[in-house]
Amino acid sequence: MTHANHHPHHSKPKPREQWGTRMGLIFAMAANAVGLGNFLRFPVQCAANGGGAFMIPYFIAFILLGIPLLWIEWGIGRFGGKYGHGTTPGMFHYLWRHPLAKYIGAIGIAVPFLLVIYYNYIVSWTLAYSVFSFTGKYAGITTFQGMADFLAAYLGKVSNSHFPTIATAFLFFLISHGCMLWVIAMGVNKGIERLVRIAIPMIIVLGIILVIRVLFVGTPDPSMPGNSVANGFGYIWNPDFSTLKDSRVWLAATGQIFFTLSVGFGAIQTYASYLKPKDDVVLSGLATCSINEFCEVILGGSIAIPVTFAFFGLAQTQAVAAGGAFDLGFFALPIIFQKMMFGQIFGAVWFFLLFLAGITSSIAMAQPIMAFFQEEFRMTRRTAATIVGIMTFFFTLPVIFFLKHGFLNELDFWIGTFALVVFAIIEIVLFIWVFGEERAWKEINSGADLRLPRAVIRIMKYVTLTYLSVLLVFWLVQDGASIFLMKNVSAADYPYIWFARFMIVGVAALMVFLVHIAWQRKHHIQRRVPG
Ligand code: TRP
Repeated sequence: MTHANHHPHHSKPKPREQWGTRMGLIFAMAANAVGLGNFLRFPVQCAANGGGAFMIPYFIAFILLGIPLLWIEWGIGRFGGKYGHGTTPGMFHYLWRHPLAKYIGAIGIAVPFLLVIYYNYIVSWTLAYSVFSFTGKYAGITTFQGMADFLAAYLGKVSNSHFPTIATAFLFFLISHGCMLWVIAMGVNKGIERLVRIAIPMIIVLGIILVIRVLFVGTPDPSMPGNSVANGFGYIWNPDFSTLKDSRVWLAATGQIFFTLSVGFGAIQTYASYLKPKDDVVLSGLATCSINEFCEVILGGSIAIPVTFAFFGLAQTQAVAAGGAFDLGFFALPIIFQKMMFGQIFGAVWFFLLFLAGITSSIAMAQPIMAFFQEEFRMTRRTAATIVGIMTFFFTLPVIFFLKHGFLNELDFWIGTFALVVFAIIEIVLFIWVFGEERAWKEINSGADLRLPRAVIRIMKYVTLTYLSVLLVFWLVQDGASIFLMKNVSAADYPYIWFARFMIVGVAALMVFLVHIAWQRKHHIQRRVPG
């Protein structure tokens, strides 16, 4: 695997980067997982799918799907790292020594790349709103419609007195884009690890401050005794078995587990490739998903929904949740904070919490393509970061300028929902079926502080795989067909939707092509090496 290194014209490459400490690794993986999904997507999914009813399939999916996939991805990642590969083309190549394997692995670069171009744009809104809260830019807007107009103008969908053009949004995009690139250009230790050592504790502290504030909200309007924080918590936590028959609730819960744990994207594998070969996977993996669930269920669940419930009541909370993640985070909460003492500060804290959680996830999404360029094309970190910066910049432009035509939503369905289920199925097949049950088990358990019983591999092999396949079929039948046929899109937007699809296919093709070139070049170098 390292023949190229012996060639006289190739200077000896530096050894691969590695996480400095176990805590650094756990925090980095937690920062990868903890993102907008924990504080925006989770509350919305939970409230829109019956509150307590949602929690049952959510935890079932966490145990049967989330944790097994997480271990598989950590295992694949550390395995690839041993061979000098931080991305799935190289990893799959060694799992399944077949010429096709590396091309299938290209999905694990294309998906996080396509994800980061819209995710990081949303992250930039949270930074902007943190500033707007602090400076009082939206102060005085007290209706949903008012906040909706504010956001629409910010995003350039309309022009009004708040924002005449999209320039402000573009500026904040450049700032968060710059932050992301700066960190990945600094590298795994000096960039990512250093950031997450501050970011994770800060996310937790800011989250706890907000939760405490929410607990003291009580019953804001004494004439409406039902609208209390206590009832808000009751709504989330009283299990309701009646909606369990609804397959939509199961789909939503499973989708949320995927999204929040960042599994099925190729990003965990890259972070795991920076493990040392004998580093533990099983216990560290559990530690990071515990941090994620704490940030999601305890912190994420205790902020947005209970407070909205207390101020607006059940019906309105459900209506807000049905409107999507932005209605809750960007409309309801700013209105509520304005009703509090020091509301500008709490608003700024809320959006800055989202920004920290989001930017550390964006960084994790950008790292696979970084590693790919560094390792498979032998680029320096600086060159790789420059190219990644230019690529992500240009591919984000249509997301920014065609937002009003549904471009972002289209990407989110195919990438944030569909692709990851497909990719997870591929991973299980390659790792447990092709690479082999016995070897997969040994691979995950090597160096483990907590050994996995063999039965868990069996669960992955049969239960997780079946679960995913059924899910995929349901998904396609329930949502896929209508989305593919653009049932909810106005005819005027068809060209933009096709453009989004063309871009997805184009990026995938580009990555396959790059993998092809990289392997050809290696082959060429290897042949010139004697012995
Ligand atoms: N887990 C992140 C969140 O909760 C989002 C995410 C999904 C992600 N897939 C990812 C982050 C891949 C990094 C890499 O918001």
